[in-house]
Amino acid sequence: MKNFISIADVPSIDHLVTQALGYKKNPYADKTLGQGKKIGLLFLNPSLRTRFSTQVAALNLGLEPLVFNVDKEGWALEFEEEAIMSGNTVEHIKDAAPVLGKYFDILCIRTFPSLKNREDDYSELYITQFVKYAGIPVVSLESATLHPLQSLTDIITITECLQNSPGIAKPKIVLTWAPHVKPLPQCVANSFAQWINAWGKADFVITHPEDYDLDPRFTKGTRILHNQDAALKDADFVYVKNWSTYKDYGKMYTNDPEWMLSNEQLLLTNQAKVMHCLPVRRNVELSDEVLDGPHSIVTQQAGNRVWAAQSVLSEILKS
Ligand code: CP
Repeated sequence: MKNFISIADVPSIDHLVTQALGYKKNPYADKTLGQGKKIGLLFLNPSLRTRFSTQVAALNLGLEPLVFNVDKEGWALEFEEEAIMSGNTVEHIKDAAPVLGKYFDILCIRTFPSLKNREDDYSELYITQFVKYAGIPVVSLESATLHPLQSLTDIITITECLQNSPGIAKPKIVLTWAPHVKPLPQCVANSFAQWINAWGKADFVITHPEDYDLDPRFTKGTRILHNQDAALKDADFVYVKNWSTYKDYGKMYTNDPEWMLSNEQLLLTNQAKVMHCLPVRRNVELSDEVLDGPHSIVTQQAGNRVWAAQSVLSEILKS
């Protein structure tokens, strides 16, 4: 595996999942794999889980991680080809990325969408420019439209739960929209749909208010319901996430609190496990009663970010 930007880079989801669960049992199994090598983590946007879990994963493999908050400490980067840089940008990615390629063995990037122009965001200009010019493997720590490390983590967590529930042959997984106070990217939802569909081992349903359709390239073939209760029926896993509108791009039409999952609604499910990528706005996206209750596996899920990152970094180092 050369890069890790989307599912298209992954030869086998099952292999990454099995390897990740192996690392969870034995974190230092490959503690010398990355010895003498360095990994650069560049953040153009905030992070808690991705930042620390990727560093812990790197350390477990003997890699030395170095973190840089580009948004706060770096030169303002220009990404447009043939740009006349007479504005606020100071350094072109064409110049910065090859330099980073000399310092590091693997480069990891987090960059969010603007949510202003769909074509620009969905072109994934920032991360593709890093891939084009760095000359070393690039790992997405979440890009404008996708969050593959999160999705791999989610499948690892679902697999782990299923190993403890041998009666569930094909789990019903429901991705449900949740309210929020501001428009959020579609990355986690896009990516979750992309990975669950590629995994192919679940009965997958998406539920959201009308007008919140995701990009059909990711949801193609998925059952989509606008009635949350109907979608939740007999679910084994409920993945809760807000996202802004895709068609009339980056908007928030409704903040309907009725869409916040309740314990009462969970009675419709097959004692579903509740997932969320975090950070979560308590009592807006998900209630205290659900987050602090027996259905929630959000901490287990966030903990598994380490093993997902370790599995991906290991695969890149081995190739
Ligand atoms: N889920 C996730 O990516 O969390 P952070 O934004 O804190 O990294």
